[in-house]
Amino acid sequence: MRSIILVGGKGTRLRPLTYETPKQMLPLVGVAMIECVLSDLARHGVTDAVLALGYLPNRFIEAYPSNTIAGVGVTYAVEPEPLDTAGAIRFAAQFGGFDETFLVVNGDVVSDLDVSALVARHRDRAAEATIALHTVADPSGFGVVSTDEGGRVLAFVEKPAPGEAPSNQINAGYYVMEPSVLNAIPAGVRVNVEREVFPRLAETKTLFARADEAYWLDTGTPHAYLQANVDILKGRRSERHGAVVVDGSWRHPNATIDPSALIINSAVDADCVVGSGVVLENAVLLPRAVIQSDCEVRSSIIGPSAIIGPGSRLGPTCVVGAKEHVAAASHLSGDVRLGGV
Ligand code: GTP
Repeated sequence: MRSIILVGGKGTRLRPLTYETPKQMLPLVGVAMIECVLSDLARHGVTDAVLALGYLPNRFIEAYPSNTIAGVGVTYAVEPEPLDTAGAIRFAAQFGGFDETFLVVNGDVVSDLDVSALVARHRDRAAEATIALHTVADPSGFGVVSTDEGGRVLAFVEKPAPGEAPSNQINAGYYVMEPSVLNAIPAGVRVNVEREVFPRLAETKTLFARADEAYWLDTGTPHAYLQANVDILKGRRSERHGAVVVDGSWRHPNATIDPSALIINSAVDADCVVGSGVVLENAVLLPRAVIQSDCEVRSSIIGPSAIIGPGSRLGPTCVVGAKEHVAAASHLSGDVRLGGV
């Protein structure tokens, strides 16, 4: 089945990391998120994908010049301006010449969802679109869906006020669609699939859903991005995407790590330097990050080529942008972001 992967968002919640690197090019335990997403889809028989690009498109195009990512053939549909999720689906589908049932995936979701079962549900119900659902404790930040027993969507409410959600089942960001859905999306303007397309399809009773409680995570916030890394390290995913995890952590072979450093549930990427007496816990160090001696870094993300001065204590939850320099003996905790445009 042909697919569209939405990867054109600005990733504002992951700033400052996303000023330089689009969200789906950030690594999960050393492997770019887009590679993780596509290799998961490949296991469900997806062989070709159109990447719906808008923000920093060249970071993808230059990284994968052979038009293959994780064994999936890819083409690049670059929007001239951000079209939002439904506008992007229409643009990418036209670019790819889609004229049969297709799959759409939010490129910042990592999951073990059963795509084959979702497609089967879609065909069985002769739906116009079918959404994968996942149960969460607090649905207020998501598209919340209620269905009848046959899976027909009765209501689709995007980000309901607390206490007003019709269920705890949320839109998991995986959709099977018929080309007819595209006809209702105006061309060349911003259209949001969750706010404009799904509520309308629900009204016409042609929208279906399938609940799936397999592993699922939207990686869009610093907390969730850290969680996605830790879940791979702890073996909570069915796939580690080739990462060699030793004692619960992943250390890139090119990283220089002092033997006295204590590394717990952390990912240390290529060319990082970790000094003596350092403690890392639930931390992600992106390539070339330097943690000088006697630092403690907990539940924090250290961006590419950032330097953390000796004796500093970071986290939870600090996000240090690319090339930032944190002064010696700094103490930072709470939702701290360091680094500008
Ligand atoms: P935030 O700014 O942090 O909310 O992140 P985001 O820009 O990624 O937005 P969001 O998480 O709501 O987007 C869901 C998915 O749709 C992500 O995979 C985005 O990359 C993608 N997306 C959002 N807006 C656009 C757009 O205008 N064009 C394209 N091609 N993709 C988009």
